[in-house]
Amino acid sequence: MPAAVPPLDRGELRILGIETSCDETAAAVVAGGTTVLSSVVSSQVDLHAAFGGVVPELASRAHVELLNPVVAQALVEAGTDGAGIGAVAATVGPGLVGSLLVGISAAKALALVWGVPFVGVNHLEGHLYAAFLEEPDLEPPLVVLLVSGAHTMLVAMEGHGCYRLLGTTIDDAAGEAFDKVARFLGLGYPGGPAIDRVAMEGDKDAVPFPRGMRNEGFDFSFSGLKTSVVTYARKHPEASVADLAASFQEAVVDVLVTKARRAVAETGARGLVLGGGVAANSALRERVLDACIADDLRAFLPSRSMCTDNAAMIAAAAWWRLHSDGPTALDAGADPNLALPVL
Ligand code: KG4
Ligand code: ZN
Repeated sequence: MPAAVPPLDRGELRILGIETSCDETAAAVVAGGTTVLSSVVSSQVDLHAAFGGVVPELASRAHVELLNPVVAQALVEAGTDGAGIGAVAATVGPGLVGSLLVGISAAKALALVWGVPFVGVNHLEGHLYAAFLEEPDLEPPLVVLLVSGAHTMLVAMEGHGCYRLLGTTIDDAAGEAFDKVARFLGLGYPGGPAIDRVAMEGDKDAVPFPRGMRNEGFDFSFSGLKTSVVTYARKHPEASVADLAASFQEAVVDVLVTKARRAVAETGARGLVLGGGVAANSALRERVLDACIADDLRAFLPSRSMCTDNAAMIAAAAWWRLHSDGPTALDAGADPNLALPVL
């Protein structure tokens, strides 16, 4: 029998969130869906760097080793123990199946032992809810630009748990393009932060790289841009890496901001929300803020640590899901290809 759903009380219900969908082992305690009491993220970046990307088997093994200490630290930092936790949430997908299973199994075990509900959370919905942690009064309708390593989406958030997909990438995700271009330029892994840093020393107008599908609809395409960077760099070995990085980043940011701005105008949303690892990008953040000032719109940019994978966003999304759908059955498994539930 699943544990009973606690009453909807913003102040009291503390959710322990667990996130292990990829290469971050994370745990957090969030009260009332918005107040972060602790958020611990243990990155496996050094473990995977030598391979130029995430090695799934290594990631699962590292989650097994890291999860207990990370959860313990999250509880200590929140000043609580199991007795103070009202529900335990974990990412159930999308992600690497072995990695997901580590977090899900731990969350179910803790929920059973503590006699509280288990809540399975969609990782993408977690990214949508990151902004609510720092802007508790945020209210739909909103447009969310969700840009991560595996996804690039423009989502019309019409209500809590109520999403319309305006557009998505037809090939590479924005973060994937950052990672691939960074690898080609010899900037290492993870590529996004490396390009962000190097681009600060470069000229964003040095090379006018193509802006795929910039003025058509809300879908995205970054694969041609990636190929253009490679072709240009091969033809111009004298080109500076900083200029190439800055020009590539400018092309991505230009397309993302142009489409997001149009999406807000066309849907009549209250504001534009950013989410996902690429939302930590300095140039994107600056341009979104400028665009929102120019259009007299509100911009909601979660802090960088809440843009990249973390468990506070999972606990935030879980708070809403628990109250709309109730607890998740304990026989629910991982779904590596889980999609955002759209209308
Ligand atoms: O959301 P996230 O942490 O994990 C996924 O759910 O995919 O996003 C990771 C992605 C990677 O592709 C990484 O290179 C990119 O976000 N990223 C950035 C920056 N920080 C992380 N891309 C551009 N600029 C950044 N500062
Ligand atoms: Zn993510």
